Parts: sequence; C-alpha cells; structure tokens
Amino acid sequence: MTDARQGLSGLLDTEAIRKDFPILDRTVHDGKKIVYLDSAATSQKPRQVLDALSEYYERHNANVHRGVYTIAEEATALYEGARDKVAAFINAPSRNEVIFTKNASESLNLVANMLGWADEPYRVDSDTEIVTTEMEHHSNIVPWQLLSQRTGAKLKWFGITDDGRLDLSNIDEIITEKTKIVSFTLVSNIMGTVNPVEKIIRRAQQVGALVCIDASQAAPHMVLDVQALQADFVAFTGHKMVGPTGIGVLWGRQELLEDLPPFLGGGEMIETVSMHSSTYAPAPHKFEAGTPPIAQAVGLGAAVDYLSAIGMENIHRHEQAITEYAVRRLLEVPDLRIIGPSTAEDRGATISFTLGDIHPHDVGQVLDELGIAVRVGHHCARPVCLRYGIPATTRASFYLYSTPAEVDALVDGLEHVRNFFG
Ligand code: ALA
Repeated sequence: MTDARQGLSGLLDTEAIRKDFPILDRTVHDGKKIVYLDSAATSQKPRQVLDALSEYYERHNANVHRGVYTIAEEATALYEGARDKVAAFINAPSRNEVIFTKNASESLNLVANMLGWADEPYRVDSDTEIVTTEMEHHSNIVPWQLLSQRTGAKLKWFGITDDGRLDLSNIDEIITEKTKIVSFTLVSNIMGTVNPVEKIIRRAQQVGALVCIDASQAAPHMVLDVQALQADFVAFTGHKMVGPTGIGVLWGRQELLEDLPPFLGGGEMIETVSMHSSTYAPAPHKFEAGTPPIAQAVGLGAAVDYLSAIGMENIHRHEQAITEYAVRRLLEVPDLRIIGPSTAEDRGATISFTLGDIHPHDVGQVLDELGIAVRVGHHCARPVCLRYGIPATTRASFYLYSTPAEVDALVDGLEHVRNFFG
C-alpha cells in the first residue's frame, strides 16, 4: 500500500463486491489483469444481473401484455415488476410515470418529440426558446437542435467556466418568459461536474418552463429522488448502472404524460384502432410502442436490487473517496492537466485530463498494453473539448468496484506513458 492511501475512509468492501463481477478477473495482453476505468461509458455487470437475464430466457420468455398462458403472464409480471423496482429506486410517486426506452438518448429524443408535436401550453414553436448547456452529451444536444430546426424555436446555451462549472451568471437572460424547456445534465459525462439543479429549476419554475434532467451519470452513482429534484422529466440508462444494454428510462410527471402526445406509434401503445383513427393507452404504455425490451427491463430490475442492497449512499461515499484520492494522485503526475473541476467537491467519479502534448489516443493505447481500460476522445461531448481548445481527453471513471490500487495502477501507467514518449 502506498502512504498516499492512508486515511482513505468510506470505502466499500471491494474484495467481496468484485467477486460478483466475473469480467474483472479477466486478463489481457499476456496475463495483465484488467483495470477497468471506463464505467462512465458502460458499467460491468454482476452475476446477479447475468443470472436474471438467463433465468428470464430459460424459464419465462414470452411476449408481454398479450398472452393468457402461464409463461406470458410470468413475463408480464417480471416486466411490470421491473417498473415497480425502478419507480421505488427513484422515489417516483407513481409506477405509471416510468417509461421504458432503449437508452437515455431515446428518452431525451422522446421528450423533444413530445414537445414538438404538443398543443398549447407545451408547444415549442418559432416564438419560443429551448435552453441547454455547453456541457451536454451529444444526446442532450442533437434532439434539441433537431427540434429547433423543425419548429424554428431558438436554442440557447449556458456556457462553462474555466474550472468546468456551468456559468449561470446570466441565468435570467438565458431562461426567459419565452423558454419552453430547459434540459441539462445532472453530472457531466466528460468532466464529472455535478450541476446546481436547484438554482436552474427555481428560475425555470419562475417563468413556467419545463425542466428535463439527463441523469445518465447520476442514477448509477447517487441517490436519485425525482420528487426531491422537482424536475418534469428525468432520463437515464440501464447499462451504466450495472444493468444490461438496450434499456433506458424516462420518468415524467403523470399529468404531463397524460397531456403530451406519443412519438412512436405501433402495437401496445393503443386503446383502439380503426382505419380512420386511433386512441391511445394511458401512460406509460402510450410511449412504449411495439414489443418492449423485456429481458433488458428484467435485468435492470435485478441491477436496481443489487445497487439497493449495497445502498446508494454507500456507493456514493465510496466513489467520493476514490475520486478524491484519484484527483490528488493525478495532480502529482507532471504535465497532467485536469479538464474540469480539479477539486473533489461537487464532482462525480469521472476525471478527464490531458498529458502534456501526448495525444489521448496514444495514452489510451499504451495504457491498454498494461491492461488499463480508459476512454479517449471527445466522449460524445465535443463542445466541451472545443471550449478548452483541445481535440480530446483521456478519461478515467470509477464505480463501486473501483479500488485505490487501480488508481495507483493508472498513475504508474501514466508515468510509463511519459517515459515511452520521452
Ligand atoms: N455516454 C457514454 C460515455 O460518456 C458512452 O462514455
């Protein structure tokens, strides 16, 4: 153990937790144990989730909401049971406010399209404004650009400060009486910044604008209570929170979901259909056209059980300790510049950095040879790289199974990278 690790507190029993994640035992490049530092891209999956998926397919597989036979009823109960679990996990007032989608991108596109097709008072048109931020993942930028192009609504942005925080100094000019929707990320996927939700929501509520929160990098890492947040929509994805790929969530306030129109049409989302017209099922089914991601929802239910058994407060505390340690150790590396907050306060377990003028792709490749998996590039948040005048960053991101020894491995690996490139 390095001296630097002394005094670290709040850590989970990672030795026990890591036994649940078979992939963490893998070796690459002639026996190098994998050091997985890319959980912001996707988390690894515990045995409990893998078992839930195979048990679903081995014993209960059938389509949902249709069959009257036993396994179809079991499949429906499992799928709807997963909705109950997610609703409890985010403290939703009603299970009917939880819509299953394919990922957070689909959830955010769904909100943009609901508003694009809506009647007054929600309608987005050329007299109205949409607000987002320079800090967003592309999935919280492009849907609003598409909506703006289609409707003529003006797209406005909060900028970023030099230290990677949202610049809210002009909040009253950005969010105005014309604003219909403010959509922003709770935690930046590239810099780890945790944003001041309350301040933004208070201003949005003053002018009667709706608020949509991208919680993709928050739901896996901290308590997410949609009632405490007081937003109108919250989007997140299953695969970053130890669940499978192919399942996302949109939570929306019930009265909004009742009023707003569907986006995708098809089976399952209707009440009646004739050749002339159709009427729609109540939410959430109105927004779940076609056969839904049944096994994936069941897997997400198992993921929620897994995280809840450990406790989101405990997971958050663990990640804060790891992040604080990582920030401290990374700042010891010569020529390393953290892009984003360089303190451990108000930041999530994601750290982006540059290393002198060594290109991040080279950093990532040399680290990979040591078994260390990080993401390099613009992380689907290119405006952030443009803001700091850099083409890309190297990003290390941590989760409940990450250890201080892995932080040390990264720091040693970066020394190796520096020596390698002279
Ligand atoms: N959204 C994922 C990331 O930030 C893919 O890496």
